[in-house]
Amino acid sequence: AMEASIRPQTFADYIGQAELKTELQVYISAALARDESLDHVLIYGPPGLGKTTLSTVIANEMHVNIQTTSGPAIEKTGDLLVLLNELEPGDILFIDEIHRLPRQVEEMLYSAMEDFQVDIIIGQDEGAHPVHFPLPPFTLIGATTRPGALSAPLRHRFGIVSHMRYYNQEELQQVVQRTSHVFHSQILDDASLEIGRRSRGTPRIANRLFRRVRDFAQVYRQDDCIDLSITQEALNVLNVDECGLDSIDRKILQLMIQFYNGGPVGLSTIAANLSEDTTTIEDMYEPYLIQQGFLQRTPRGRIVTDKGFKHLGLTKQEDR
Ligand code: ADE
Repeated sequence: AMEASIRPQTFADYIGQAELKTELQVYISAALARDESLDHVLIYGPPGLGKTTLSTVIANEMHVNIQTTSGPAIEKTGDLLVLLNELEPGDILFIDEIHRLPRQVEEMLYSAMEDFQVDIIIGQDEGAHPVHFPLPPFTLIGATTRPGALSAPLRHRFGIVSHMRYYNQEELQQVVQRTSHVFHSQILDDASLEIGRRSRGTPRIANRLFRRVRDFAQVYRQDDCIDLSITQEALNVLNVDECGLDSIDRKILQLMIQFYNGGPVGLSTIAANLSEDTTTIEDMYEPYLIQQGFLQRTPRGRIVTDKGFKHLGLTKQEDR
């Protein structure tokens, strides 16, 4: 229950993503005024920015139910049919990691999205016959960290495409303040801003760091107000540095500098050296390192920028 209440339920409660919010509010008002279902929505962006939360907000604002699932959870067309069969007019079907849908399931979605119907084959051999299966008008919300991995036919069936961006420090500060309030904790402004500064643009990380800082304050401070010094102490113990990089972020840069003089290094080499898989590096670590200007993508591989060298206090070996 606690977990649920730290998630905003309406746009009024939802911090950040201002442009996207303004746009969605227009489409929602228009759909409500026409008494229609909302057009299908594709939400993309790095993990932890609140794609699921945003979908729940959309459902609340549309006054409809939301069914939540994920690409890998829908293994067969039958699994999708069960979900579609439960929809009432206007309802939302939310599919997280939609780029991981099996192909046959994805193909069934095309007609479901476009015509609100699916054709299925019932029976086998000579007895096999197509059955037409009408659906109520519904809204598909698909979420993905990698829109490029979606097939073009699927991508083109979303009328609304929303790109979620990293949050700035002040927005993350507000997220922390809001969460603190939900937990009945007291946090000083400079402390919440410090967490915001070190959360790599991501509310999920801000909320996680807040919980750990709160634990430290509870144990090491008699008074229950979270101040800047306990916040910095806790974040240092957690290995989160001034820029919000965690130990894996720094390991990536270190490895590239020490063994490859800053690159270019291929993604699979980086992944193998850290015993992580390439998608983890690509989806979870790289986007922030690139956005912060520590790393660059080139046709020949990844390279550490001057800023990346400087951040680790290392210098580049010049060619002679
Ligand atoms: N918690 C996580 N993301 C949030 C957001 N965008 N607004 C408010 N609370 C949040």
